[in-house]
Amino acid sequence: MPHRLIVALALCLVLAPVANGRGPVDTQAPIIDFGSRFLPVVARQGMVVGPERLASEIGLGILARGGNAVDAAVATGFALAVTYPRAGNLAGGGFMLVHLAEGNRQTLIDYRETAPRSADRDLFLNEAGELDNQRVYFSHQAAGVPGTVAGLVLAQTRYGSLPLAEVMAPAIALAENGLEVSFALNLEIAARAERLALNPEARKLFLTPAGAAPEVGTTWRQPELAWTLRQIAEHGHDGFYAGEVAARLVAEMKAGNGLITAEDLAGYRALEREPVRGSFQGVEVVSTPPPSSGGVHIIQMLNILEGYDLAAMGHNSAAYIHHLAEAMKLAYADRSEYLADPDFQPVPVARLVDKDYAARQRGLIDSTRATPSTEIAPGRVLLDESRDTTHYSVADRFGNVVSNTYTLNFSFGSHIAVPGTGMLLNNEMADFAANPGQPNAFGLVESETNKIEGGKRPLSSMSPTMLFRDGKPWLATGSPGGSLIITAVLQTVLNATAFDMNIASAAAEARVHHQWQPDKLVVEQGISPDTLRLLEGMGHTVDLAPRTLGRTQSIMLERGYLLGATDTRRPGGHVASY
Ligand code: DON
Repeated sequence: MPHRLIVALALCLVLAPVANGRGPVDTQAPIIDFGSRFLPVVARQGMVVGPERLASEIGLGILARGGNAVDAAVATGFALAVTYPRAGNLAGGGFMLVHLAEGNRQTLIDYRETAPRSADRDLFLNEAGELDNQRVYFSHQAAGVPGTVAGLVLAQTRYGSLPLAEVMAPAIALAENGLEVSFALNLEIAARAERLALNPEARKLFLTPAGAAPEVGTTWRQPELAWTLRQIAEHGHDGFYAGEVAARLVAEMKAGNGLITAEDLAGYRALEREPVRGSFQGVEVVSTPPPSSGGVHIIQMLNILEGYDLAAMGHNSAAYIHHLAEAMKLAYADRSEYLADPDFQPVPVARLVDKDYAARQRGLIDSTRATPSTEIAPGRVLLDESRDTTHYSVADRFGNVVSNTYTLNFSFGSHIAVPGTGMLLNNEMADFAANPGQPNAFGLVESETNKIEGGKRPLSSMSPTMLFRDGKPWLATGSPGGSLIITAVLQTVLNATAFDMNIASAAAEARVHHQWQPDKLVVEQGISPDTLRLLEGMGHTVDLAPRTLGRTQSIMLERGYLLGATDTRRPGGHVASY
């Protein structure tokens, strides 16, 4: 063998383990790996990755003007309320994970909705004690006290660098002057036209006089929404939670037998919480704490899976998917029992993310056979003491990163709009255990811990997440999808770490999902039929997902570059960068 070839081979061998996420970063490797079928967008200065082009570009415009990642995230959040009505919102809620370059620290802004004060456990049960799902999903009572405006304003006031009115100006202009209806917007409204038509105000806002979605290429204006945004730009938090916007919302509640009062609105606060933390193969994982279940279970599953050589099993092999599914079942079983609003219910976060607990749970996994969900009980080895949401990620040139997920719950929430405001109401109350023990809209089974109580935040699965390598931000991601969020984020993290994929591949590869109950392994297209047969042979009930699983919007930060990937599973996503 020629000498030069031996040197090259030796170099490859030295560098190979470096690239798999467990060693130091290989500073020689090209930033784009041309061996991959999927490539990220590459930029240097700033990036906004989100579900809709105009809103991503608005965020980027704020970065280019000297704003920081929080300014851009707030601008994008308000813009999505205009351009992406299925999930962008003013009257919903969410979670924003922020990495601050100054002080090299992270904070989590919890702007999850709360139950109105008068709501109680049996709110959605009829006289026969049965769940009335029509009311849970599509009534005024389905709405939690909105948190989005409080959350975005709090983020802006504490961590933004530009005035609130400046970051809101592009969203206001777009609502006022109108936007050109895209293929994706037309599709999203058309998919819900029938139900939107049932509410006269929603019909007026979203449909043509004939009851159809606005045509592609036409101009769609939202003057009432522009008015609401202006109240917020001028008066901040109180522009929404007091004054005329609040009055209009309360009037609609009275007219529609809803529960939200002026006192509920005046009492709403977004909260800053300490994120939940863990590690996987030496990479630090920072994610969303209760009242979301996401971060706790992502870390719990990573802990369980860290005990296996996943890379040796091979990506999306039967062995890998089997271990993934078994870890998912254990985590979702715990979710059903322990997770809820920590201000109402003690949640054993430290014990659930403990590596020793994960090791004991690993002991419950049979490497060759699927354990039926009926044999998996929550917390068996836990020791005593002793359908639409949206995500976007932002990075700026100062080193700040934001990962934000927010929602109305369903696509277009309750499909009920508040007259004179341009806003849709959320149906987040459906995320409580409206009848403990009975599956919710996402098939999730929950206990009394997540029962309805006035002022309580319903349990969420939203999981804005960041990874840190050598103390520096490396990856920001998140997804919509209700119960699917947690496993979509988990697999994105595993793809980037254990399987050393670039962020575009990490997003694109086929996903699987198991949530303990129902006892089904749901798979996307793209997993080999041979693999599925092997999994069935191990005892899994395999179901092809009727739709795709999750929709991530991610940024990876590598050696001074920003690498962005919008999930290709749905139309309209966009990486804006410079
Ligand atoms: O907070 C939650 O977990 C749900 N309300 C999220 C809903 C959702 O992701 C629907 N999207 N497809």
